[in-house]
Amino acid sequence: MGKNMIRVGLLGMGTVGSGVFEILKMNEEQVRSRAGAGIEVKKVLVRDLEKERPVKIDRKLLTTDPEEVLKDPEIDVIVEVIGGTGVSRQYVEEALRNKKFVITANKDLMATAGAELLLLARKHNRNIYYEASVGGGIPLIRPLKHSLGANKIIRLMGIVNGTTNYILTKMSMENMDFETALAEAQDKGFAEQDPSNDLEGKDAAYKLCILAGLAFSSHVRFADVYTQGINNISKRDIFYARELGFAIKLLAIGEENEKGLALKVHPTLIPLSHPLAAVHYENNALFVVGNAVGETMFYGLGAGALPTGSSVVADLIDVARNINHQVENGIMETEFKTKKIVPTEELFSAFYLRLQAVDKPGAFANLATAFGDEHVSLDMILQKRSVEGLAEIVLVTHAVEEKRFAQALKTIKGFPAIKKINSVLRVFEK
Ligand SMILES: NC(=O)c1ccc[n+]([C@@H]2O[C@H](COP(=O)([O-])OP(=O)(O)OC[C@H]3O[C@@H](n4cnc5c(N)ncnc54)[C@H](OP(=O)(O)O)[C@@H]3O)[C@@H](O)[C@H]2O)c1
Repeated sequence: MGKNMIRVGLLGMGTVGSGVFEILKMNEEQVRSRAGAGIEVKKVLVRDLEKERPVKIDRKLLTTDPEEVLKDPEIDVIVEVIGGTGVSRQYVEEALRNKKFVITANKDLMATAGAELLLLARKHNRNIYYEASVGGGIPLIRPLKHSLGANKIIRLMGIVNGTTNYILTKMSMENMDFETALAEAQDKGFAEQDPSNDLEGKDAAYKLCILAGLAFSSHVRFADVYTQGINNISKRDIFYARELGFAIKLLAIGEENEKGLALKVHPTLIPLSHPLAAVHYENNALFVVGNAVGETMFYGLGAGALPTGSSVVADLIDVARNINHQVENGIMETEFKTKKIVPTEELFSAFYLRLQAVDKPGAFANLATAFGDEHVSLDMILQKRSVEGLAEIVLVTHAVEEKRFAQALKTIKGFPAIKKINSVLRVFEK
């Protein structure tokens, strides 16, 4: 006979914690029938007992003492929605040692310490569920772990940061400049007051570590991911990209080939006909190519109280079924190997280049020669009318080994006729 009530200790009652609490109330009956048991929040750890909460909660549930939650013998599962890698890691470890199941929405924690924490979970015959850590409400972890398990994953490409996608969409669809779009994202609560982790691509890189780890059955570290942010994208680039038939998106890309894993986060020109080009504003999406299934795409809201809470509560339902029906513990991540990472300079990519050159005969011929010497062939060229003797040249290359492109660019930078290299971006051309 299983338990008719699964008791939860919530660590944190901010955006996600409140969403979890609200869904458990809003969909109580549905959750009970799917879980085969009631799910009750027994205690909630916060910092400030007096703070206004966005949900109606019995204040007696709140505590500032972690031990009251982590040591409560009645609590079966700890939901960590504090964030960061400090106390959250400590509490998750203690919860596992106390034989609690753990659910977390924390990508920083899973990307940096997931391997160790899952080992600890296995040691204590428990598990960590982390569907909410990437893509908010979009199912990504389960599909990669289970539904696509029959495939060798060839490539995954994702828009996994809502803030940057919101900014790029505003710049592209509403002709807004970068600063105004960022300020609006902050106003709407998408971007943090210090948005550098989002803008520099670090948040997306953490998420790629988690996704690529599962897709390629490998331990992936943050340092393995080549990361470039969107700080230098201008409206001009977005405008020219569109003229050439592309959208600019911050993509997290993971690929496996015979040399190893390629892991990158960078702004990318993607053909307007690609489904990822149609993912706008704060939406997220993951495009996965498997050798049996072909192309699949997962799309939706990557953040927010209810979308993220939706993933956490789904994990709670799994935990309840696990507890009551002794469903196999399901940890596979501890069996992962560490696959070789291909250095970026050995990867192949097409490039977009925007530069300013003196509008004199021969300037373009020099460019063509510098590219030709490194076997870089050009796919598209735009030359704009010159202003005050300077011409703006925009070109797109065919795929080339990154180090060859870098060498050609170095040569080009040395030409007296080249006044400025405005932008260098990668192009996805498949
Ligand atoms: N927000 C989203 O849409 C979203 C989406 C996906 C994943 N996530 C992840 O979910 C996690 C939580 O995010 P959030 O947006 O819900 O954060 P948040 O709104 O800032 O809430 C954090 C909560 O943790 C509590 N807390 C912070 N430090 C604490 C400490 N040292 N001891 C005890 N309690 C502490 C806070 O207490 P007080 O309320 O008393 O200050 C607050 O209730 C993060 O890992 C985040 O990356 C968030």
